[in-house]
Amino acid sequence: MRTTLIAGNWKMNKSVSETVLLISELAPLVRDDIARGVEVAVCPPFIALATARDVLSNSGLKLGAQNVNPEAKGAFTGEIAPGMLSGLTEYVIVGHSERRQIFGESDAFVNKKALAVLAAGMAPILCVGETLAENEAGQTEAVLTRQVAAGLSGIAPNDLSRVVIAYEPIWAIGTGRAATAADAQNRCAFIRAEIRKLAGAAADTMRIQYGGSVTPANAREILSKPDIDGALVGGASLKAADFAAIVAAA
Ligand code: PGA
Repeated sequence: MRTTLIAGNWKMNKSVSETVLLISELAPLVRDDIARGVEVAVCPPFIALATARDVLSNSGLKLGAQNVNPEAKGAFTGEIAPGMLSGLTEYVIVGHSERRQIFGESDAFVNKKALAVLAAGMAPILCVGETLAENEAGQTEAVLTRQVAAGLSGIAPNDLSRVVIAYEPIWAIGTGRAATAADAQNRCAFIRAEIRKLAGAAADTMRIQYGGSVTPANAREILSKPDIDGALVGGASLKAADFAAIVAAA
């Protein structure tokens, strides 16, 4: 059985004090869902992680970072190393489409991050997904095949079950236009089949989330699908009631 993981990617939102407020509002709303076995994580900005760690202690909420640099230390001004996060966060998002598109991150760089996150004892949430142009050109499966193979390259078979894949069609992110539950299921099943080709039975232990305009209104149907093991939620994770409603739908 794969444990459902609902993760909130706050992106470049919420100050330290706002982080305290949002986690304090959220924790009581999701307590019963965590108790029934839903895994719930929040991913605030780097600067708020240490405070968030304190605020969410005893809540059962997990913590994730939104990014990491794969190098261990050194002259990388403004960057954060895996070892700096490993005492703080359980998860690290790698390869989010905003990192790939705005900051030019390659498949190879994203793979280095995933390997570094695992080596530091955390779990990567590896984001994959096609652009609108790729989708309309019928290239979605080719893009997913490439991103999954590159992203998982070199990961030891034993570590694969710790990796979470987030399928996030780029045209659905922040647009209010989510994939249909049926399409999301098909893509996640395709990704699982690709992983099975690469890694055999490990594919059945790995969690695959859907992300892209997940809301309280569409979460239940999306999360009911057999190959969708959770959601990576952007905009709707910034309001405690909305995020909690998505968790409740899991
Ligand atoms: P969204 O973002 O829920 O606001 O579409 C999802 C994401 O970017 O992870």
